[in-house]
Amino acid sequence: MAPRILITGSTGYIGGSVLAAITRAHPGYAVTAILRKVSQNYVDAYPRVKTIVGDYDSADILADAASQSDIVIHAGDSEHKGAMKALLRHCVGKMRKVGEVDEESGRSAPTETFGVLSPRVWSDVDDVEEIARLPEDRIHRPVDKLVFEAAAAHGAHIQTAIVFPPHVYGRGHGPGITQSYMVPFFYDAIIAHKSAFYIAKGENARSLVHIEDVVSLYVSLVEEAVKSLDTGTVRDECWGKNGLYFTVSTELVWKDIAAATGKIMASLGLIDSAEPTECTVDEFRSMFGGSGLSFHMFGTNSRSRADRGRSFLGWKPKAPGFFEVLEADILDHHNDEQRDVKAVLASLGKKK
Ligand SMILES: NC(=O)c1ccc[n+]([C@@H]2O[C@H](COP(=O)([O-])OP(=O)(O)OC[C@H]3O[C@@H](n4cnc5c(N)ncnc54)[C@H](OP(=O)(O)O)[C@@H]3O)[C@@H](O)[C@H]2O)c1
Repeated sequence: MAPRILITGSTGYIGGSVLAAITRAHPGYAVTAILRKVSQNYVDAYPRVKTIVGDYDSADILADAASQSDIVIHAGDSEHKGAMKALLRHCVGKMRKVGEVDEESGRSAPTETFGVLSPRVWSDVDDVEEIARLPEDRIHRPVDKLVFEAAAAHGAHIQTAIVFPPHVYGRGHGPGITQSYMVPFFYDAIIAHKSAFYIAKGENARSLVHIEDVVSLYVSLVEEAVKSLDTGTVRDECWGKNGLYFTVSTELVWKDIAAATGKIMASLGLIDSAEPTECTVDEFRSMFGGSGLSFHMFGTNSRSRADRGRSFLGWKPKAPGFFEVLEADILDHHNDEQRDVKAVLASLGKKK
């Protein structure tokens, strides 16, 4: 029988790109999508995907759909605890969700670390225990914790895996959102600031990954799950307390990102000078309505190594580098503003 796959968030940047890749690689899989709204565009793109109308607050719909699936890909919202609890309620198959670990995320980092290179590079193999114990104020952590708890309590029945992309770049392939967050948010902040910028020395480093490399990790994980359903053998190194996957293809220092972005935006006539400027902590704090988002997006370190995918799933990033597609990412946002930072800020803190 064809494996039954349930996917959430498949009109979004990551979920939409994952759905496109899975249906292309495995047209025989029986895929069901939970959507807030079923558009004609979606049905035309995926005539064989069954759709169920529901949102992340529709706990019974999520729980029922998950219970009738072999594999659940939750790619929509890494902050919504209710949705994750519902998906885990009767889950008998494999669970995936998407999240990220950001070292020194803006909510908890001391100001003297902004713009300074941290020597710490996280590994999804060597640092499993520490990641499982990260404090609740880390981004996405409350929902990640639910997955760790489910793995600990029900690991014999539910195999979980959490995919932790850092900032993702490149054009997505979904029927809805095709742009990521980082470049559009930086673009908007640069327009408001009138130049590209960095904080302090601008030496904070960011792991980065192209959307196609995130997607290839998801496809490998789903294939691993299908294999274990077929054979009845679960590889302990891939799931549960070990089921953490960083997906990193490159690392860049923020000042270099700012210099390249400033150069492109100046050449497009969007700002006067290509030179990035140094910002103070107060200037950073005032961005995005004083939300602190700018520290998390542009001022902190997020350094990780994708050891697990490489070692146990044969994952290897192959997509173009950040600088190769930066101009296209900038132009995509310039021509079609899909990301609205105000809507993102309004939604933060409203998750149940
Ligand atoms: N993009 C990145 O760089 C990145 C990196 C690391 C982690 N992440 C995390 O990964 C997750 C997905 O990111 P993304 O970039 O793919 O986001 P996205 O493009 O905004 O997609 C979000 C998806 O979730 C759906 N959705 C949102 N709220 C919903 C609700 N209340 N009920 C049902 N569906 C809902 C959206 O459906 P509609 O079409 O109905 O709006 C859409 O399909 C997020 O939690 C994000 O923080 C993203």
